[in-house]
Amino acid sequence: MKRMMFTIGLLAMIAGCSDESEVTSKALTGSDRTLAAKLAQIDPAAGQSIAAWCVGCHGEDGISLDENTPHLADQLSFYLFKQIKAYKEGGRDNPTMTAVARSLGEDAMMNVAAFYASRPPPAETPAGDLGDGPVEAGRVLAAECAGCHGEDGNSDIPGTPGLAGNLPADLIAAMHAYKAGTRDHFLMQAALEAFSLEDINNIALFYAVQKPRRTESPGNGDPVAGRRVARSCAACHGEDGNSSDPNTPGLAGEDAEYLAVATKAYLDGTRDYMMMKHPVAALSDRDIENLATFYAIQEPRLQTLRRPLTAEDWAARCDRCHGENGVSGDPRFPSLSAQRREYIADALKAYRMETRSSSMMRAMSAPLNETEIENLAVYYASKARAVATAPEQ
Ligand code: HEC
Ligand code: HEC
Ligand code: HEC
Ligand code: HEC
Repeated sequence: MKRMMFTIGLLAMIAGCSDESEVTSKALTGSDRTLAAKLAQIDPAAGQSIAAWCVGCHGEDGISLDENTPHLADQLSFYLFKQIKAYKEGGRDNPTMTAVARSLGEDAMMNVAAFYASRPPPAETPAGDLGDGPVEAGRVLAAECAGCHGEDGNSDIPGTPGLAGNLPADLIAAMHAYKAGTRDHFLMQAALEAFSLEDINNIALFYAVQKPRRTESPGNGDPVAGRRVARSCAACHGEDGNSSDPNTPGLAGEDAEYLAVATKAYLDGTRDYMMMKHPVAALSDRDIENLATFYAIQEPRLQTLRRPLTAEDWAARCDRCHGENGVSGDPRFPSLSAQRREYIADALKAYRMETRSSSMMRAMSAPLNETEIENLAVYYASKARAVATAPEQ
């Protein structure tokens, strides 16, 4: 819809009518506005001969046949021109495209941009179902852990910690420590051996959003005595073992045997953590047993955690700039729908790593993990470029 307004807007602008050019005039100012008006008046046929140089990579009519080369067809001419210019002047880094762009003068760049903008849009690539989001991907991986940690991260085996509702940062740190051997546990090192960084992030997200339940193995300590000793722990772990500090694990409802083993590990130095050394230094075995039972019988609370967004949730945010369904009606933003899947993923990673610079896209790509990037790429590649162009004259 917006796109139609933009196209009509340009046509109206050419015809000297101002009220329909609203989208253009709002989006662009100053010399950019003049440039867009100039591009709109170019006869697309003028760029056809230059486009003959681009065919080998961008395909006939700007429909690329190579996964890592973008479709150009049907992008807005202002966007295309700006990108070619950025390659030429070094604002966008790609040796091939820089060489191509350097061989083009200003007029040639404008003409070829207008040519591709006039070409019919690419067809979407049907993708079937979207891949799992991070939480679902984590759930699948965590099946291997269920035998000890329980289906949903609530363990019933004495000595094995519950993982449900733990903060992602804690889970991730613990898994990396096992993997690296800095936290020594033969079972856990073996269990995590095959997992990538991304797997570990997804597993952590899965467990973090599961509802924790109180353990059924509270041990044999004296909870009243335990409560007294626990006062010295409250500043960090919370009165009842529900920590409100994102860097401190909760202890409420945790398996008593695990609590005792972990506390002793800080005491004897097998688990080395500065902050925990001093608080446990003076504890007796009896104190530890009492503390463990006190914490084990507390009700654990699920931390308020932002649930990871689905591809659709993200896309709703992306569409604010890239247009409804990824069909851009604003000359500053490329259309994403029906673009090549791998190219979209590559571009997002490049923005995230800042090898392609754009302050807007840096902010948008920074929080995305690999799973989310792949899903967004599939999402847009498989969306139709629902064009509502005004009839060609
Ligand atoms: C040898 C292969 C090759 C040739 C020839 C080539 N391109 Fe490209 N082009 C690419 C690749 C690969 C990219 C993606 C580069 C990147 O990731 O920045 C690209 C990117 C672009 C983009 C950015 C598109 C976007 O969505 O941001 C534009 C515009 C473009 N090319 C225009 C042209 C034009 C016009 C020509 C001919 C004058 C041309 N290219 C010739 C390979 C080529
Ligand atoms: C054979 C049983 C077993 C399996 C399988 C297992 N774990 Fe563990 N896990 C344990 C035990 C026991 C501990 C406590 C170790 C310690 O004292 O450091 C633990 C500790 C952890 C911790 C640290 C929790 C904390 O509060 O610090 C994390 C995180 C964890 N496991 C994740 C996993 C994941 C993910 C998997 C699956 C890939 C997995 N575990 C598979 C037994 C197991
Ligand atoms: C100064 C803050 C602070 C105080 C006080 C403190 N802790 Fe901790 N505690 C931490 C931090 C931070 C960690 C995470 C350490 C790590 O990653 O190994 C931790 C971890 C633990 C763990 C391991 C949890 C798990 O899931 O693996 C136990 C058990 C624990 N503390 C018990 C206690 C007890 C009992 C006391 C009081 C006697 C206490 N802590 C006092 C900061 C504190
Ligand atoms: C605030 C506006 C804004 C939002 C929101 C936004 N983008 Fe962008 N996006 C841009 C701009 C501007 C560019 C062109 C930047 C450049 O020149 O490299 C761009 C470029 C891109 C490109 C490169 C396309 C090409 O043809 O080269 C991709 C892919 C992309 N965005 C994906 C996304 C995704 C996915 C989201 C949502 C997670 C998103 N964008 C959200 C403004 C935005």
